[in-house]
Amino acid sequence: MIELSGVEKHFQGQVVVHPLSLTIKEGEFLTLLGPSGCGKTTILRMIAGFEQPTKGKILLDGADLTSLPPNRRDLNLVFQHYALFPHMTVEDNIAFGLKMKKLPAKEQQARVEEAVAMTQLTPLVKRYPHQLSGGQQQRVAIARAIANKPKVLLLDEPLGALDLQLRKNLQSELKHLQRSLGITFVYVTHDQEEAMMLSDRIVIMNGGKVEQIGTPREIYAKPTTLFSATFVGENNIFSQDGRLFAVRPEKLVAVRGTEGAKRTGEVLDVLYLGSIHKLIVQLDDEPMTVSIAFDFTDDRPWNVGEKVGVAWNSEDEVVIGS
Ligand SMILES: Nc1ncnc2c1ncn2[C@@H]1O[C@H](COP(=O)(O)OP(=O)(O)OP(=O)(O)O)[C@@H](O)[C@H]1O
Ligand SMILES: [Mg+2]
Repeated sequence: MIELSGVEKHFQGQVVVHPLSLTIKEGEFLTLLGPSGCGKTTILRMIAGFEQPTKGKILLDGADLTSLPPNRRDLNLVFQHYALFPHMTVEDNIAFGLKMKKLPAKEQQARVEEAVAMTQLTPLVKRYPHQLSGGQQQRVAIARAIANKPKVLLLDEPLGALDLQLRKNLQSELKHLQRSLGITFVYVTHDQEEAMMLSDRIVIMNGGKVEQIGTPREIYAKPTTLFSATFVGENNIFSQDGRLFAVRPEKLVAVRGTEGAKRTGEVLDVLYLGSIHKLIVQLDDEPMTVSIAFDFTDDRPWNVGEKVGVAWNSEDEVVIGS
């Protein structure tokens, strides 16, 4: 549905987005995930039309968008900072784009009502932005975008400014909204947990380059690069005979003695994290620690300073490139 073909962006001669080709499917929840400065916002702004690619093409439903201005593209961008009009009520903020498009008043009203109901803002429609909490303001920004009924909604860290609890609530609301609207979402975040929870597919970016594209499950179970192996979830990277492989903490087993152990070490820390326990182990022959997670209580607890063997099944080794 959206096709990026060899899209590249340079700023002052510096490459900020390396050639990127990507097809986003209709109704898909696609997330761009990566650390600060890796080019996520720049990609979103190119799709939205606020930024021109230095090279390459962007197609929507087969039509070349590259030279169309933002208001001629059938998509909407929700910014990290809500960007509401402070002198307008909630409903006027939501209706703003519809007024600009000169939609009939009846249609405007129906769309505002629908968007307000979907984002649970009904009791707040007469308020001004300064009378709303951050999460409520962000819901207004989202309602304003969906009232336009775009084919595609672009969201740039829409929950970035909110506290954890509110983020969690809005995450599930967003996912629900996306499912019920059937709109394609292109979502930007640097929060890997958020990306895992919301997305159909994740594009992992690093320094303007794509590291890996895959479903959350693929990215967790089969990271293809060192960066994706360590950026999403905790991982242990081992090197052996000139190759690198990763083993997740829950795939490692702590054993007493050396039988079956592939490495040995000393317990550096014992962490009780509610449902799981974790051992941090300093390996004997390598300057690295590994993390072992287990979800049951050992009948004999581990102590700091104790010798420990580290075992795993060979099939849980995920070979990665560099
Ligand atoms: N208008 C501009 N002129 C020059 N450099 C820019 C411009 N916009 C962005 N950049 C640079 O491009 C790179 C990518 O920026 P971008 O905003 O896309 O990153 P991001 O992944 O969205 O980061 P964050 O998570 O911090 O929002 C950065 O190094 C940034 O400094
Ligand atoms: Mg950004």
